[in-house]
Amino acid sequence: MIAIGSDHGGFALKAEIIDHLQKRGFEVKDFGTYSEASCDYPVYAKAVAKAVTAGECEKGILICGTGIGVSITANKFRGIRAALCGDCFSAEATRLHNDANILAMGARVTGPGLALKIVDTFLDTPFSGDERHIRRISMIEE
Ligand code: RB5
Repeated sequence: MIAIGSDHGGFALKAEIIDHLQKRGFEVKDFGTYSEASCDYPVYAKAVAKAVTAGECEKGILICGTGIGVSITANKFRGIRAALCGDCFSAEATRLHNDANILAMGARVTGPGLALKIVDTFLDTPFSGDERHIRRISMIEE
């Protein structure tokens, strides 16, 4: 199950991502927002982060205008490693090296075509499992 959430700035891109993921066969849980009315990004970032830390969803996707507000919020949660990505190289590297469990994107920064490629790269790339990366990730929580 993939958790997804956005504020009004990411609402349209969230809809495109949900449609794309469902066509790919993923189960998606949409934590809102559910319209383009102005709203507060921490509400949705917290809901997605909680679903991932609780194990209800294995990964999360968060979108706001820049991707910055949602990533700052999600990274306040112990065990969350939210990566703000605007390119496929970063999306691949953050899975391989950081075992990132939330992808954050900025809908006013990254166009929908690239955003869907970033989503696919993020979800299709496994964690490397390398000892040095396990060590570094565990150091984050110390
Ligand atoms: C909303 O206008 C905007 O501030 C928000 O989407 C996001 O970019 C915050 O980081």
